[in-house]
Amino acid sequence: MTQALDLAGIGIGPFNLSLAAHLDAVDGVEARFFDRATRLEWHPGMMLPGVELQTSFLKDLVTATHPTSPWSFMSYLVSQKRFYEFLNADFSAIPRPEFARYLAWVGENLSSLRFASAVDQIDFDGTNFRLRIGREAVSARNLAIAVGLKPNIPAWARAAASDQCFHNAQAANRLDRLTGQRIAIIGGGQSGAEVLLHLISSDRFAGREIEWISMRPNFLPLDDSPFTDELFTPGYVENFHRLPQGRRETILEQQLLAGDGASTSTLKAIYRRLYTLRHLSEEATTVNMTPHREVLNVTREGSEYRLIMRNGFDGAIETRAVDAVVLATGYAFAIPDCMAPLMDRIALDERGHYRLNASFEVEWDGPDDRRIYALNAGRLSHGIAEPQLSLMAWRSAKIVNSLLGRAHFDLDLPDPPVAWSSRHTAQSLHHLGTSARMTESGAR
Ligand SMILES: Cc1cc2nc3c(=O)[nH]c(=O)nc-3n(C[C@H](O)[C@H](O)[C@H](O)COP(=O)(O)OP(=O)(O)OC[C@H]3O[C@@H](n4cnc5c(N)ncnc54)[C@H](O)[C@@H]3O)c2cc1C
Ligand SMILES: NC(=O)c1ccc[n+]([C@@H]2O[C@H](COP(=O)([O-])OP(=O)(O)OC[C@H]3O[C@@H](n4cnc5c(N)ncnc54)[C@H](OP(=O)(O)O)[C@@H]3O)[C@@H](O)[C@H]2O)c1
Repeated sequence: MTQALDLAGIGIGPFNLSLAAHLDAVDGVEARFFDRATRLEWHPGMMLPGVELQTSFLKDLVTATHPTSPWSFMSYLVSQKRFYEFLNADFSAIPRPEFARYLAWVGENLSSLRFASAVDQIDFDGTNFRLRIGREAVSARNLAIAVGLKPNIPAWARAAASDQCFHNAQAANRLDRLTGQRIAIIGGGQSGAEVLLHLISSDRFAGREIEWISMRPNFLPLDDSPFTDELFTPGYVENFHRLPQGRRETILEQQLLAGDGASTSTLKAIYRRLYTLRHLSEEATTVNMTPHREVLNVTREGSEYRLIMRNGFDGAIETRAVDAVVLATGYAFAIPDCMAPLMDRIALDERGHYRLNASFEVEWDGPDDRRIYALNAGRLSHGIAEPQLSLMAWRSAKIVNSLLGRAHFDLDLPDPPVAWSSRHTAQSLHHLGTSARMTESGAR
């Protein structure tokens, strides 16, 4: 085994890629990142025609915290010689393939990345972490776990899973092979919306019967108005992390549509296509829009799938027979198998998630200077921004500062424009020369 790395990263999706790009700017840190894939492909199973990024391209791997990095989206555009054309195209939301190519470009050029390297097992030898990667052994003082979320296949769908009943993560490979007349899409988030739009726009599915089922009371949009966007800022995350768990859980439930609604542009495109199909087209495609239905079970009967669902609008139980089912039922957190040897040393909360401190460090019983960072693992601890691209640069910079034990990246920001915590309100009033005592009595 060669000398221990300062940090080993497991997974090279956008989140560890951002961390690798930040560490590239720090002299004297030996870091290496590993991914089982042979190259960086960003959610290839959902790369359907016309899909867009839900986030500003300025929220790239580095710009928010290290704007002079060579790994910015702007550097990529310049390297591809399409800076002017990109600006002239004036996208309100950029095509997802463009962002995926940017990520792949960084993936090809950053020297700390190793692809075709599945991490099979990680243990701790008392001094360092030891990673088994095929026949290779790698030693590291610290870890960054960023293995993404797993497609969520609900328990009621597992027995029915087949090449005609699958999660949307496989949509790009499987949709065009769907046979039969009737197709149901279950799930009212952005993935379900994109699958529906593809099916009702493609000539291949003309004349079929397509149903979009959502548990939500309607086909609801992602809220990206300014004060909701404040939830995707470092100031909000820091306030959120300080709250007790019970409060964080309640707030997360209230905020679902800030992170997980469908883009208004996708909903508009669906509605316009429905209009055309209903009033202006000779095509006999039938589209059934059925919100407020909780699917309770799916069973396979011969070549048919039978759905049982509860209608939350009128309380009725409904059944449906279809020939194919796309499960757009979201993604879920899972601790990767390679962590098994460490699990008796790691503290978990009651949901079985890591306990994370403000710097994304997992609580474990190892030495203080041997840290495990977890990315995209802290929705409950850090809030709805955690699984999104929005704060990936900030989170990376925060992790680098924690690793180095100094503020290599300047993360100081003014107070947010919204007073989330009462502590913040008290501080602001104090700055204005009003005593905290007055605030307290005023609050009463
Ligand atoms: C279709 C889709 C579109 C999205 N679009 C947006 C968007 O527009 N805006 C936004 O803010 N968010 C978006 N998201 C949410 C989020 O930004 C992405 O899911 C993002 O890819 C998460 O990055 P990640 O690095 O955590 O995980 P992933 O991208 O899933 O990467 C994890 C990597 O870990 C590797 N891995 C896992 N286990 C091992 C192991 N044992 N050894 C080695 N490698 C391993 C995997 O091969 C994979 O490459 C989208 C999500 C989806 C599903
Ligand atoms: N273009 C893009 O940028 C893009 C594309 C795809 C995904 N994403 C992002 O990736 C994340 C995941 O999106 P997603 O759409 O895959 O997942 P999601 O937002 O979690 O949506 C899953 C949907 O499945 C529904 N569902 C679960 N169980 C059900 C049941 N038994 N019956 C009926 N419906 C059921 C959920 O309903 P409830 O909400 O009521 O539980 C929800 O509507 C989001 O943050 C999204 O914004 C982005």
